[in-house]
Amino acid sequence: MKKSLAILSLTTILVTLILSGCYYDKAELVYPQAASCDTTNVKYSTDIVAILSANCYACHSGTASASGGRKFDDYTLLKNNFVNSGKLVLAVTHSPGATPMPFNQPKMAKCNIDKIIAWVNRGAPNN
Ligand code: HEC
Repeated sequence: MKKSLAILSLTTILVTLILSGCYYDKAELVYPQAASCDTTNVKYSTDIVAILSANCYACHSGTASASGGRKFDDYTLLKNNFVNSGKLVLAVTHSPGATPMPFNQPKMAKCNIDKIIAWVNRGAPNN
């Protein structure tokens, strides 16, 4: 009787250890980006310019064909015409109300979109 009790408690301890090990493995799978996407201190001059330059400037800067009034390498034009109207966020999130961007391409990586939203929500400062 005593022996089977000891085996039972040993089994309980082992099962608990194995289950808690699995819990941590699963947490890593569920939140793979949590640690890598930092939106707390997004800056225009570094983060936003880097995202726009890699994904948008090909068509929205300098003399590119889509530039017209859509020159995103000009902070004031970007802010006044596309941030304040909400079009920038609608376009990158592929939401109704703006043509989905990048044009004819899938959405950008979630972290890029989250950084743009975080910057816009803080008033899109020229920092
Ligand atoms: C391959 C060229 C191309 C790329 C790359 C591109 N755009 Fe555009 N963009 C366009 C064209 C063309 C239009 C005009 C579309 C229209 O009028 O329907 C446009 C329009 C827009 C508009 C105005 C949308 C509206 O409905 O008024 C926004 C905002 C915009 N782009 C943001 C972006 C952002 C942000 C990126 C990068 C993530 C990007 N674009 C990348 C070609 C591009």
